[in-house]
Amino acid sequence: MPGESLRAFIHALPKAELHVHLVGSAGVDTVLALARRHPEAGVPADRAELEQFFEFRDFDHFLKVYWAVQSMLKDRRDIRALVIGLAAELARQNVRYAEVTVTPYNHLLDGMPGDELLTGLVEGRAVARAEHNVELAWCFDIPGEKGVRAGRETAVFALRERPDGLVGFGLGGPEIGVGRAQFEPFFTAAREAGLHSVPHAGETSGPATIWSAVHDLGAERIGHGTSCTADPALLAWLAEHRIPVEVCPTSNVRTRQVPSIAAHPVRRMLDHGLVVTLNTDDPPMFGATLEGEYLAVATSLGLRAAEVARLAKNAVAASFLEDAAKAAMAAEIDQVVASGTGAEA
Ligand code: HPA
Ligand code: ZN
Repeated sequence: MPGESLRAFIHALPKAELHVHLVGSAGVDTVLALARRHPEAGVPADRAELEQFFEFRDFDHFLKVYWAVQSMLKDRRDIRALVIGLAAELARQNVRYAEVTVTPYNHLLDGMPGDELLTGLVEGRAVARAEHNVELAWCFDIPGEKGVRAGRETAVFALRERPDGLVGFGLGGPEIGVGRAQFEPFFTAAREAGLHSVPHAGETSGPATIWSAVHDLGAERIGHGTSCTADPALLAWLAEHRIPVEVCPTSNVRTRQVPSIAAHPVRRMLDHGLVVTLNTDDPPMFGATLEGEYLAVATSLGLRAAEVARLAKNAVAASFLEDAAKAAMAAEIDQVVASGTGAEA
């Protein structure tokens, strides 16, 4: 498919984003404005310097930068601005629905009252819907490096506050030295309350972490899952049980987990019949967009239009949208395919 028609086709597809962190979605201009107000955070207020600041040596370095940006968020206005900025960007790319990961425990530790966080989310979500026609849902996740205390507090906060649109319960941060199983009681409580289990696993550690996520945490989707291709039994299991993987190719390149998009295991995941979804993780920090992820994977793997549309449909099917909304989006994807946008493919 020639570049321009592939781009037009990808744009025309109504898309769902299932793995994006709220803090990591802060646009460059937003981060620059925050950095001017909060010099103590050590985040550059100059555009060129910020670009350099967003060059990551490895995953741990990325997390330190992420936490520095997070520390500048102080109140409902900051959260609301992030949510609305994310929605505007999603609308620009014809992304209609996103499940956005929020880490309440970290915001509370940074001194933001829980009410401020929740009000910012609620107000931002309403504006996203009214002004950008983007539907947002939330996943509250545990910052794993902060241990069981963070697990307990995150579950208590999620189940007590239960804001509209809260659909998922997750686990992020480093994986090495942060076993998934210790968080089992909190995932059990969240699942019993009707939240979906969506932990990160296999992003920065091996397949054992993914096995633990499914067995100990009841994972319904896997955040990243990059290392699953190292274990043929796991690949077969994920395919058989149709557990979707939230693949974030550019993120994995930028945190140096994989050398390039071409070398990304997404090809093997598709070859083994996994339900692959494409996502951005922390888009401005990685210089990523959802359209760009589709374009990069389609180009690198030489996908045909129908295969690209399949990726968009996978995201809809793997989402926690209501069935009617899923059916409407899937039908619209079929229409885009049938209308022949990018028909040269
Ligand atoms: N993995 C773990 N923790 C994170 C990530 C990620 O990709 N992004 C922000 N926090
Ligand atoms: Zn993530």
